[in-house]
Amino acid sequence: MSKNIKKIGVMTSGGDAPGMNAAIRSVVRTCAYYNIECVGIYRGFEGIMEGDFRPMDARSVKGIVNKGGTVLKSARSKEFRTPEGRKIAHDQLKNAQVDALVVIGGDGTFNGGLVFNKEFDFPVIGIPCTIDNDIFGTTHTIGFDTALNTVVDCIDKIRDTASSHNRLFFVEVMGRDVGHIALNAGVGAGAEEILIPEENLGLDRLLESLHRSKRSGKSSSIVVVAEGDKIGKNVFELKDYVEANMDEYDVRVSVLGHMQRGGSPSCFDRVLASRMGVKAVETLLEGKTNYMVGLLNEKIELTHLREAIKGQSKIDRELLRVSEIMTT
Ligand code: F6P
Repeated sequence: MSKNIKKIGVMTSGGDAPGMNAAIRSVVRTCAYYNIECVGIYRGFEGIMEGDFRPMDARSVKGIVNKGGTVLKSARSKEFRTPEGRKIAHDQLKNAQVDALVVIGGDGTFNGGLVFNKEFDFPVIGIPCTIDNDIFGTTHTIGFDTALNTVVDCIDKIRDTASSHNRLFFVEVMGRDVGHIALNAGVGAGAEEILIPEENLGLDRLLESLHRSKRSGKSSSIVVVAEGDKIGKNVFELKDYVEANMDEYDVRVSVLGHMQRGGSPSCFDRVLASRMGVKAVETLLEGKTNYMVGLLNEKIELTHLREAIKGQSKIDRELLRVSEIMTT
């Protein structure tokens, strides 16, 4: 066990995700278990630069495992992207005698941590936490599973009204530049078509598919659209286009938006966050730095932060095939 690490700082950064609190709790309690001091850093890299640190003991994280959002707050910092900002951050950490950081977030957060390590040789470990699931080196990011359940729940409700009125609904879901949420929730909710950035369906094929589904006797339809889809039209333009080309459909749009980021984390996300927090602290105590903890083949494994940032998380193409068969 590394004797150099006596105090660990934990922070959340970037878009929040359900399970962030469970990850904070796990880091704090693992520190307590190993008799290491822990400080919570508020508002991510902004909070480091402002020295907004508060000591956290095992009891300080009681009652948060089931809470959405992040008790440490989150922010995206412009100043930390400058060498001057990072120097201020380093001075604050040194003054507070913080020896290492656990950063909870997505690739922007990891990038910040990596640059910081390079400049100051400061130990950093990352925990992947974003609803988008767009991180290489883990099959699941914390928050993804909860977001999927939220989306499926919403689509089930939309289907009720869609089938009552014989309507076609375009449901836009989050995911920034990737289609993990759209693809998985689309299959789970039985969507007729799923539009994702990784697979350009094209407008003609979309119309063809909708005609086919009408002909097969379906009176209503759900099309899930990833926000980053590249079909060339936003979801409202898509509605206009389909209405102009298919008068048999009455079309509506539902943009699910930030509700996908909220809510109580699923059991899967809570367990994942607990496992990742333990591994993050233990990795620092083994004297390692610049790794991300991730779920690979059911085990918590390490991936270098550089790989996690550079590598591309790939969608499960088999799911596309499954979706096609399911909509027969
Ligand atoms: O990265 C998480 C995410 O929710 C994306 O799915 C979405 O594109 C983005 O954040 C929204 O960011 P903001 O909360 O800044 O609008």
